[in-house]
Amino acid sequence: MSTVPAPKPPTDNQHLLQWVQEMAALTRPERIVWCDGSEAERERLTALAVKEGVLIELDQSKRPGCYYHRSNPNDVARMENLTFICAPTKEEAGPTNNWMDPAEAYKKLGALFEGAMAGRTMYVVPYVMGPLGSPMAKIGVELTDSVYVALNMRIMTRMGKPALDMLGGSDDFNRGLHSTLDCNPERRFICHFPQDNTIWSIGSGYGGNVLLGKKCLALRIGSALGRNEGWLAEHMLILGVESPEGETTYVAAAFPSACGKTNFAMMIPPRRFDGWKIWTVGDDIAWMRVGSDGRLWAINPENGYFGVAPGTSMKSNPMAMATVARDTIFTNVALTPDGDVWWEGMDGPPPEQLTDWKGQPWTPASKEKAAHPNSRFTAPMRNNPSLSKYADDPSGVPISAIIFGGRRATTIPLVLQSFNWGHGVYLGATLGSETTAAATGKVGVVRRDPMAMLPFCGYNMGDYFQHWLRMQHKLVLPPKVFMVNWFRQHEGRFLWPGFGENMRVLKWVVDRARGRVGAMETVIGWVPRVGDLDLHGIQVAEDDVDLATRVDYREWRTELESQAEFFAQFGERIPRSLLLWREMLLARLNGLPS
Ligand code: GTP
Ligand code: SPV
Ligand code: MN
Repeated sequence: MSTVPAPKPPTDNQHLLQWVQEMAALTRPERIVWCDGSEAERERLTALAVKEGVLIELDQSKRPGCYYHRSNPNDVARMENLTFICAPTKEEAGPTNNWMDPAEAYKKLGALFEGAMAGRTMYVVPYVMGPLGSPMAKIGVELTDSVYVALNMRIMTRMGKPALDMLGGSDDFNRGLHSTLDCNPERRFICHFPQDNTIWSIGSGYGGNVLLGKKCLALRIGSALGRNEGWLAEHMLILGVESPEGETTYVAAAFPSACGKTNFAMMIPPRRFDGWKIWTVGDDIAWMRVGSDGRLWAINPENGYFGVAPGTSMKSNPMAMATVARDTIFTNVALTPDGDVWWEGMDGPPPEQLTDWKGQPWTPASKEKAAHPNSRFTAPMRNNPSLSKYADDPSGVPISAIIFGGRRATTIPLVLQSFNWGHGVYLGATLGSETTAAATGKVGVVRRDPMAMLPFCGYNMGDYFQHWLRMQHKLVLPPKVFMVNWFRQHEGRFLWPGFGENMRVLKWVVDRARGRVGAMETVIGWVPRVGDLDLHGIQVAEDDVDLATRVDYREWRTELESQAEFFAQFGERIPRSLLLWREMLLARLNGLPS
């Protein structure tokens, strides 16, 4: 420890002070810096990060307040194989999570954390997940030796003094410890201890592995807290759809990583829907609980967006482009010679010359991508021109519809409505999607990703399904539940144009939720009849719409067969009603004339 006396901590919370002291004794930082979240602090930490080469300043006339970061090339996405749920028993973590015995995990990571911050600064980052003063908000404190993490947490959460004020003298806060160490995958572990409300992350400096408020607290620990306390922590965007008459309907949607949540949450409706407006409440995470009115109310626990850069353009997502115009940290995109950023799918032809995400010269003739496919921006939500006025509301917004969606080349139609809540839970529980660059591993492989929560559920997913089913008892007005697929293909191309055109599907969803548009019953759920989807002015061949919306019973039989395998791994813990739904749907399919 430093011989210079440390400045007095800005709190007298003994639980917090004692824990910080213990963790400092373990990791032995040279100095401890308590983050207050102020503008002066942002300037100071940013200058330091630039001096240390952690951040590169972008051209401030083009992108005021914007900086650039390159992560270690071995550290560019979440690593599910190094992510552990350290519940007391393996059974509690369930078959879809990696499990480590808690004592063993503390011992193993404790050895790695020993002296890990020697010669470095420990930043104490207190933060709130959720609007300040919300009964649904939770407090965390992340101890990190990464100035990049401290600056990102400042954007992604309500960070600093407001968190300490809200915490007061309470012991009820998430304890997060992070060190980048030497960024060696051999020494990389992201461990969650739900019973201790604790997260230990070591050996990574990237995104979901280290911004502990996000996937680690808001989803993995959050889902476990939610089960105990009777609410839902979900990998969902939240948006409001405002009609020309000024009626706003709130919708939450779960799509797996890099499957379109940010885009959907910021959508600009096509011309046909002049007067309609989408308001963003959140783009990645929803915490939902039943209000005293029997409706499901949702808050976005985050304060910023950690969004996928590639594919973001003025054409696909103008709101995101406006959001990243200032005060944004870009990670692993490409740099232009004049101090701006670039990525694949941005507007216009690629520049003649770039520096790629690895720091190498790049030209349009280069074979490799200039930006990493999982390159991202960290931007404050207040920059979003379509930010909902309720994004900061402590009560959240009432949800009328829940949408599950995956990336599926076949089988899943453009849109489908469940028969009821239980069937909706079944549709969510059997959600499948092709893997993406958001996690390391092979891309494009279909896997089951229930409720888009496979990598994020902090306990046994069989129990998680049960928890979802049980929510119905408290819901007087349950949201209607839908399934969508923007990614169905024919001969190697997407059948549906997606992005703003998804408004056509969303309109049907909203009208169904409000009980004012027709539908047709199929064996597997309700679908729009011809004419129910407003396709006026859409630039798509009628045949393509037919193929995109088709329910192919042969494909569905295969789909239902493959779901059995997924359910089987949960043994007794899978709710029986989900098994029965599968059997009934299959029986109904098999009963049809072939
Ligand atoms: P995470 O932040 O990883 O949780 O991802 P996300 O769900 O917010 O995904 P995002 O909106 O960033 O989209 C990821 C990728 O999907 C981008 O490359 C988009 O261009 C693409 N995408 C989004 N919406 C659509 C769509 O409607 N159709 C098609 N074909 N692609 C889409
Ligand atoms: C995701 O992978 O779903 C993300 C990005 O939202 S990360 O924060 O890295 O998990
Ligand atoms: Mn996500």
